[in-house]
Amino acid sequence: MTRDVRVFGDAGEVSRQAARAVADTIDDAVQHRSRCALVLSGGSTPRMLYTLLASQFRDRIPWPQVHVFWGDERYVPPDDPRSNYRMAKEALLDHVPCPAANIHPMPTGFSSADDAAREYERTLFHHGSGDWPRFDLVLLGLGEDGHTASLFPGSPALDERTRAVVAVEAAVDPAARLTLTPPAFARAGIVYFLVTGPSKRQALRDALAATPGAAHPAARIRPEDGEVIWWVDRDAADGRMRVTGSRNALEEPRA
Ligand code: 6PG
Repeated sequence: MTRDVRVFGDAGEVSRQAARAVADTIDDAVQHRSRCALVLSGGSTPRMLYTLLASQFRDRIPWPQVHVFWGDERYVPPDDPRSNYRMAKEALLDHVPCPAANIHPMPTGFSSADDAAREYERTLFHHGSGDWPRFDLVLLGLGEDGHTASLFPGSPALDERTRAVVAVEAAVDPAARLTLTPPAFARAGIVYFLVTGPSKRQALRDALAATPGAAHPAARIRPEDGEVIWWVDRDAADGRMRVTGSRNALEEPRA
């Protein structure tokens, strides 16, 4: 696994640069494998990125070949304002020619969230032709408490080895959630974390400092044979990260 940290001036620039990279990555996957499995994140950070994918980048993306999944979902009806599916639908999916059959939201209508998790596992394994599916691109966020997808610090889901999807109880609203697990994320080709705003500064610092295998949720996102790219704005970055418009690593700013 390789890691890259890219720091931009503000959240708008993070979204624009990430949108361009998402479009390129989808295009590349479709050219090489005839389709692209894209995993969307929830939360509010990706809204601007989704809006750009639905406008400026809409016609650059081969939507009929894109399959859309979710990295996590709040266990609420799809029209609930807290639904990750609803956010992605309103900002992105309602505006692009992605066939309805290619859109795979996590189910939230089962009386048991665990049954819903198992149903989504079946969806994933079907897409992967009976194996762990390979995700070409996974989008993730980072919570102020360090969670990513719905993998929260201290959660048993962090140590999951066999399940691709599990139901979890979070300490934040809504408590009931579904999430992909570390072994499912391990099958990603590329993972993009989007992190913006000063409230994420400590969480980002901790995530980047966490050693492989550490208990930190972000440290459990380890594509076996892929790359992780952090798209970060200046407010979330600390002083050790130099703002650039292009590739960037953790390094001291030049005098
Ligand atoms: C969720 C998420 C979660 C999110 C972070 C960041 O459903 O809550 O997928 O992991 O990405 O909490 O959320 P914000 O972008 O709203 O800060």
